[in-house]
Amino acid sequence: RTVSLIGAPTDVGAGARGASMGPEALRVAGLGPALQARGVQVLDRGNLSGPPNPWLPPVDGYRHLDEVVAWNRAVHEAVHGELQQGRMPILLGGDHCLGLGSISAVARHCRETGKKLRVLWLDAHADFNTNQLTPSGNIHGMPVACLCGFGPQALIEIGGHVPAISPKWIRQIGIRSVDEGEKRFVHEQDLEVFDMRYIDEMGMRHTMELALATLDANTHLHVSFDVDFLDPEIAPGVGTTIPGGPTYREAQLCMEMIADTGLLASLDVMELNPALDVRNKTAELAVDLIESLFGKSTLMRK
Ligand code: ARG
Ligand code: MN
Ligand code: MN
Ligand code: MN
Repeated sequence: RTVSLIGAPTDVGAGARGASMGPEALRVAGLGPALQARGVQVLDRGNLSGPPNPWLPPVDGYRHLDEVVAWNRAVHEAVHGELQQGRMPILLGGDHCLGLGSISAVARHCRETGKKLRVLWLDAHADFNTNQLTPSGNIHGMPVACLCGFGPQALIEIGGHVPAISPKWIRQIGIRSVDEGEKRFVHEQDLEVFDMRYIDEMGMRHTMELALATLDANTHLHVSFDVDFLDPEIAPGVGTTIPGGPTYREAQLCMEMIADTGLLASLDVMELNPALDVRNKTAELAVDLIESLFGKSTLMRK
């Protein structure tokens, strides 16, 4: 098995600067060697390039739309290219607006190969805003809506097929910050959300059992991991911290249960912001969790 690391050093979709340094921080935290230790071949494809962050106010409810489109096109092509060559892409963000380019590429690959797609969206946020609903205009709050066909033409048609995915293919986990209008839209579109209240009451184990139910051998499992999913006490290095996230143990269990399916086929690691981190500890935690996602456990398990 070969994994391809693809860096996307930009923060054009975010409301704070710094996620553009995420790819290098993950490398410095030892992501490559950690994966090699899991027995996978690692190919570091370096960083994609794209327009700089102009740091302008929103226009029609979108900040930096042209730049977001350019970066997502580059991500889409790179992720699709790796999949086509039989490698597992790991996108190193970069802000979460790039989940659109990544997941639209995965969806395109699934259409081409007749696979079923399941997306696990690990995040404090639903990222289901539109330009009408957004309080900020930041497009990292919109990729799930865009994937489902709600967004500007240039973004929703990046994968050539509109919508790229159905809301039914997504499971959101760890959610604890959803804007007012966004809440109504999540219900209207019937997104399957395991929010923090659900995890508090039912536990991470039951949550993951449901989120991973109805997968089969023909399923492509994609994980979109927004590092702000984690509790900010353990993961301060993100631009949009929301208190009350999963603990270290809950996050480990989440990753371990995904690993147990044996179906993980692509991954995004997004929103890591080294400018806000403490001695790279959030990047190191992300690497630790990715090791679990690739099957590291305390004891041998059958
Ligand atoms: N809901 C807020 C907004 O739309 C925050 C989104 C944060 N998204 C993220 N990927 N960190 O502005
Ligand atoms: Mn988030
Ligand atoms: Mn997000
Ligand atoms: Mn681990």
